[in-house]
This record gives sequence, structure tokens and C-alpha cells, in this order.
Amino acid sequence: LPYRLQMEVDTHLQAHLSRKPKSRDKLLYSSKSSGVDGGIAVDDLYGEQERITPNSVVVEKIQHRRSLQLRNKQQDWQESPEGQKMLEFRRNLPAYKEKDALLKAISENQVVVVSGETGCGKTTQLPQYILESEIEAAQGAACSIICTQPRRISAMAVSERVASERGEQLGDSVGYKVRLEGMKGRDTRLLFCTTGILLRRLLVDRNLTGVTHVIVDEIHERGMNEDFLLIVLKDLLRRRPEMRLILMSATLNAELFSNYFGGAPMIHIPGFTYPVRAHFLENILEMTGYRLTPHNQIDDYGQDKSWKMQRQAVKKRKSQIATAVEDALESADFRGYSRWTRESLSCWNPDSIGFNLIEHVLCHIVQKERPGAVLLFMTGWDDINSLKDQLQAHPLLGDPSRVLLLACHGSMASSEQRLIFDKPPDGVRKIVLATNMAETSITINDVVFVVDCGKAKETSYDAINNTPCLLPSWISKAAARQRRGRAGRVQSGECYHLYPRCVYDAFADYQLPELLRTPLQSLCLQIKSLQLGSITEFLSRALQPPESLSVQNAVEYLKVIGALDENENLTVLGRQLSMLPVEPKLGKMLILGAIFNCLDPVMSIVAGLSVRDPFLMPFDKKDLAESAKAQFSGRDYSDHLALARAYDGWRDAERQQAGYEYCWRNFLSVQTMKAIGSLRRQFLSLLKDSGIVDQNTEFSNSWSHDEHLIRAIICAGLFPGICSVVNKERSISLKTMEDGQNSVNAGVPKIPYPWLVFNEKVKVNSVFLRDSTGISDSVLLLFGGNISRGGLDGHLKMLGGYLEFFMEPSLAETYLSLKRELGELIQNK
Ligand code: CDP
Ligand code: MG
Repeated sequence: LPYRLQMEVDTHLQAHLSRKPKSRDKLLYSSKSSGVDGGIAVDDLYGEQERITPNSVVVEKIQHRRSLQLRNKQQDWQESPEGQKMLEFRRNLPAYKEKDALLKAISENQVVVVSGETGCGKTTQLPQYILESEIEAAQGAACSIICTQPRRISAMAVSERVASERGEQLGDSVGYKVRLEGMKGRDTRLLFCTTGILLRRLLVDRNLTGVTHVIVDEIHERGMNEDFLLIVLKDLLRRRPEMRLILMSATLNAELFSNYFGGAPMIHIPGFTYPVRAHFLENILEMTGYRLTPHNQIDDYGQDKSWKMQRQAVKKRKSQIATAVEDALESADFRGYSRWTRESLSCWNPDSIGFNLIEHVLCHIVQKERPGAVLLFMTGWDDINSLKDQLQAHPLLGDPSRVLLLACHGSMASSEQRLIFDKPPDGVRKIVLATNMAETSITINDVVFVVDCGKAKETSYDAINNTPCLLPSWISKAAARQRRGRAGRVQSGECYHLYPRCVYDAFADYQLPELLRTPLQSLCLQIKSLQLGSITEFLSRALQPPESLSVQNAVEYLKVIGALDENENLTVLGRQLSMLPVEPKLGKMLILGAIFNCLDPVMSIVAGLSVRDPFLMPFDKKDLAESAKAQFSGRDYSDHLALARAYDGWRDAERQQAGYEYCWRNFLSVQTMKAIGSLRRQFLSLLKDSGIVDQNTEFSNSWSHDEHLIRAIICAGLFPGICSVVNKERSISLKTMEDGQNSVNAGVPKIPYPWLVFNEKVKVNSVFLRDSTGISDSVLLLFGGNISRGGLDGHLKMLGGYLEFFMEPSLAETYLSLKRELGELIQNK
């Protein structure tokens, strides 16, 4: 038993003994870190007369008794009729045949790698096998199993499933924990959580005291958090020789992971799926009698729409696409398809699968095909929403007596989520619109038809230009196979790939790991706050280490914003930032918001930026939606202030029960508004915990007089994300550090600010600025950058570097005079 736990129990018992116990008095103790947390009726155990010896024996007895209770409960369930039925189902899963081999391997090895087709029972069964066998061995109370999931929705769905397989309520022996939500009780022995939650726990308890098994699921996805976690766990295993690590993967490339852990044993669960017939675009068109014409092609699909410059790029992109199609036509690839006429191909836009084509395929399935649910893979949440709107207006697909249309997304509420797994009424066809998260981590049993648009929105990172890119890009062959496999769960199925065969042949085999394609700032901060040593050294131990340029960029950025000092040590600011569940720059805005006493709007801005854009831009009502947004932002050139105002309006409307109506009128997403609300609450409690905000802080609604200050705080947070603005006769020219000049078309109103600070610079062919705010020279001079770095003088020197780059003579002058004045001030002091 951990020494700390003994101490804790001893102290509690001493306290208990020192007062006269009332009869049947219950001693409650709880120790979060021990894994044995719970309330125990001590005098139930020993009777009133018995003297309680406050030592480890007591704890063992208590634990033993809990373990026996758990065992009885499990046996009762397994012997009940429903329990029997459930066992019967579970025994039919492919994982069951490997149960003994799995348990043996886990008991004999510290690390085991398990692979098996999606649906074979890795996620729901394996953690359960461990739990059951511990409980059967009367070790239940001492075990604590953590199983990580890359997405919150799978953590929630899986825990619910496992609890029901055990005949329990969620929060009994099985629970879950995700950001902002959780269901976990004192008896929870098996916890499903997101990878982020486990990393957060490591922050406060780097040894994971009391945890007996860690299971990292879906490692084949190679998410950044998972890759990071593996480095940390590799070290931790050395300190905790009795702890077990199990890695689970849907694909067969298990060797990579096994080698990483010194040749850990691999167990493959052979599975079965029913055959799935694959249709590619050429025969889909033939089968459904659909003709591509320029008329039915909707061309904005997959485009972002936050900044007006985009229109120009869309135009440019269209011409590029036309050229690409021409090229493809000339290439040998396409010659084999007799019906694949030049005419139809030139209308197929490889970058934008028209919604109408999707609609057409769905109609075909609903009208002509056998029963069975449809799973449609789209690129992102925006597309899902706009497509859903379009389908809802369709006479057949929008008819609720024939079609149940559902959207599936990572941050959806659990009530909504359940509908996805439920069977629809007879005669109603279930159609689920999902992103690539439905590829492996959730299983919808009744899917018979899969429609695959072939793309996924993938963040990638251009280290040379230090620019994150968010492009819908072609998926990998492995992902396309996964998508197809989703149709063969219960019977043979059909998969409609909405792209030609030759495009599939050109897909990469696997996707690049996230660690190699995203900015590393938050990760580097986390490495420092977990005291994992040198950032470069630590990351060099990753499964596939990131490029050193990406690491340098991230470290330099953290120095610029003041989270790290010159020697790469965490500063006070850095430590605070690592506690906040947002990107460092947004965290900095929160802290400054608190310091400068305008936290209320700043919290809305930060929450909005870290969830997603609440302003909806429905396809056919773009103009209306844009003018609705302009009401919030129009006159003062700030997407951020618009966000804060929109939230304030929503909060007022909610108080009068009119929140939904308000959102509808202003083209705002109700869900996003709610998410912003709950994030705000989380921020506030974290800031209160860390003492930055006073415990009794209340907010008023009138912050408009602080607008200049809020702009300054936005600048302080988003710096060095700045660009200069030059209003010209018929256009506006924007200049950023890395990309040079960009022009915005005529017809755009002039921007009355010399600078814009922006949250994100995204590359979609040319560069776009997302969510920007206009700021003045003096704000930039005083709030851009980090005064603590090299003192005021150093700060100005660095800023001077920026200003010189932009070569604005008037600014350079302002800067020089300010520098002179401040320099004098410093000297006089
Ligand atoms: O993790 P893996 O993909 O190997 O499979 P799983 O998630 O453990 O699911 C195993 C089986 O449990 C699936 O094939 C489904 O039949 C069933 N299941 C279910 O009915 N409902 C859920 N929410 C999850 C799984
Ligand atoms: Mg799974």
C-alpha cells in the first residue's frame, strides 16, 4: 500500500478515535490519489466494542471487504437472466477467444500491444476483462484502470456501454471523465477519459499513484496527445514497475509501437466483417443515373468563410481546379472508363464534392436499396451543418416519417449522441452525418451503407512559414478502408466512394502523425510544466520526433509571449498558462483580462476562439448571415468584440427564455453559445483557484467603455500575430511578417486602424486571417510583446524589429520617440 495512503488513513482514524464515537457512526475517508477512495463504515466492520488499530492492517481489511462486495455484485449480475444474455453477446465478440491469452500476456509483461479490426471488442471488452478478473480474484478495490480515448464522444459512449454490459449505472464501477463533464463515483475502478484528461492528471500526480493499468486506445491515429503520452509513460513505467500499459490499435502496424517499448508482445485479435462492395464515382454515376453538369455542381463546399479575402481565393482556386481536371483528362489514368465522358469529368470538381451529388446518392439508397442505416463521412462540422440544412429542406430526405437525419460530432451532448446508436422506427432510414471520428472509435451497429467523400479536414503545419494550415485534404488508403469497413458490421454492405478509382490509388498509405504536422506550443509548455527536462531532448524520444525547426519555432514563440525565460525555464506566467485548458496565447488574454479588470468580455472571446466560430454562415443565406454578424462587429473592425457582444446578447436573451430565438435571428449556433457558457464557468473557477481572480467576483454587463482596453488585451494575447493595413484607392493591402503583401478587393470598406491582430493565419491556397481586430499604434507599442523579456528596452528593441520590417516611417518615428522617452524614464529611475 502506498505509504501516503497509510498516513492518511491513520490520521483519520486517530481523529475518529479521539472523539467518542456515536453509535453506528461512520468514518468517511477519501483519498483521491490512493485509488481506494470511498467511504467505509468502520464500526460496521468491527463492531462497536472492538478497538480500532490505526494501521495498514485496517486499510487492508477495508479493501478486502470492498473487494468481496464487488465480487458478489458481479456474480449476482452474471447469474441473472439479463446478465446471462449480455454474457452471451459478449462471448460472440472476436475478442472473447483471446481473453485468456490477453490476460496472461498482461500479467506477465509490463507493456502489451493489442490490435484488431474495429468492432472486435477491444475498447469495450479488454478493460472489462481486466476489471472482471481483478474482481474475481478479490482484488477489485485495489485496482484502478484508466482507458484513454482520443475523443470525448467515444469516452462517453463506451463507458455507458460498458456500464450497461455490467448491469450497472454509469458512475458505479465504470465511469468517464472528459473536459467539462464526467461521471465518476467513489467505487469507480475503470475510468474512460480523454487523453487530455490523463495528461492533466499527470500534471498534479506525475506517478499516477494508485493506478494499476493504463490503456491507451486508438494509438494508430497517432494523435499528438497520444504520442506525447507515450513518451511520458515510457519514463513512468521505469518508476512504477508494477503498473501495466496496454496499447490498442485498429490496424496491423503494431510493430512500430512494440519496438518503441523494447519489443513488447503483440496480440492480434482476428476479426470478421461481412464483405463490403466498393463503388467508385464512375459506377456510382452509372448506377444512380446521375449526370454531372455545371448546373448541379455546388462549388463552395469545403471552403472556409471567415474573411472577405477568401472570395478572391475561391475564384483562383476554381481556375486551378479546372486546370487539374484538364490535366487528369489528358493522363492515362482516366482512359479506361468508357462512360466517363470528358464532359462529365470536367464538371466533377475534385476539391468540392457537390452537395447535390450526395443528395442524389442518398435518395438512391433511401428509395432503391434494402433497409439499413447510412453513415456519411464529411470533412467537418461546418459542412455537416450546411448539408443537414439542405437535406432537411428536401421533400424525401427531409421527411421525418421516412428519414431520421442525425449529425455526429465530438462535442455534442450525450442525449443527442444516444440517438445515433438507437434503432430508428420501422420504415425510417437512419442517416448519420459524421466526421472522420466515426472511422474507428465509435461503432454504429446497423450501418449497411457508407458514403465517403474522401476528405478530412486536417490541420497541418508549415514550419518554414510558421503557419498552421487547415485544409480539407484527401484521406489515406488506410482511412478509406476503415470507412468502407463500417458498412459490414451486421451484414454485407455497400460503400460509395465519391471519387474515381484512380484518385483512391493515389492516396497515401497512412496519414502523417499529428506531432509532425501541428504547431507545438502547447505541447512544449506542457513538457516544461510536467518538469520533463529539455524540450528538444524530450521530443527527440518520441515515436517519430518532430522536425527541430518546428520545436525551435515553438520555443521561440513561448519566449516571445513570456511563458519561458531565456534559459527555457517556465516563468510564473508560463506556469499559470499551463494550468489553463486553452492555447497559451488565449490563456494570456484571460490572465490579462483578470489583471486589467475586464475579464467578462475576454472570457467570452477566449471561449469562442477555443470552441469554434458561433456565427453560422448557411449556404443559401450567406448575405443575411453576414449582415447579422456585421451588427455585432461592423463599425469597429473586431471579430473578437463581435463575439463578446453576441455572447452578452445571448446571456440576456437566455434570462428571458429567449435564447433560441435570439440565436436563430442572429445566425448564431445555440450549441456553441452553450459551450462558450460552460467554458466561461470553467475558466472562472480555474482563475479563482489559482488566486488570480477574487473568490467573490461578480460581473456586470456593461463593459463597452472598456473597449480600448479589451483591444489592447487582445493585442497582448495575439502578438506576434499582426499585420499592417494600408488603405489604397481601390483596395486594402495587408502585410504580415512571413507572407508579405496581400491585397483585398475593391468594394471592401476601409479599415480605420493601422494594424490588425489576428488569431489565426490559415493557409487555404493563399493566406487568410481569421478573427481579426483593429488596433492603434500606441496599443501595439505598449501591449505587443513581452516587457519582461530584456526589460522595457529589450521589449522596444524587439518591437522596433517588427516596425522596421513594416517600414512605416510615421510608426518608426513614433517608436523612436517613445523609446527615447521610456529610455530616459528607465535611466532616471
Ligand atoms: O474497440 P473495438 O472497435 O474493437 O470494438 P468495441 O468498441 O469494443 O465494440 C465491440 C462491440 O460492442 C461492437 O461490435 C458492438 O457490437 C458492441 N457495441 C455496442 O453495441 N454499443 C456500443 N455503444 C459500443 C459497442
Ligand atoms: Mg475501439
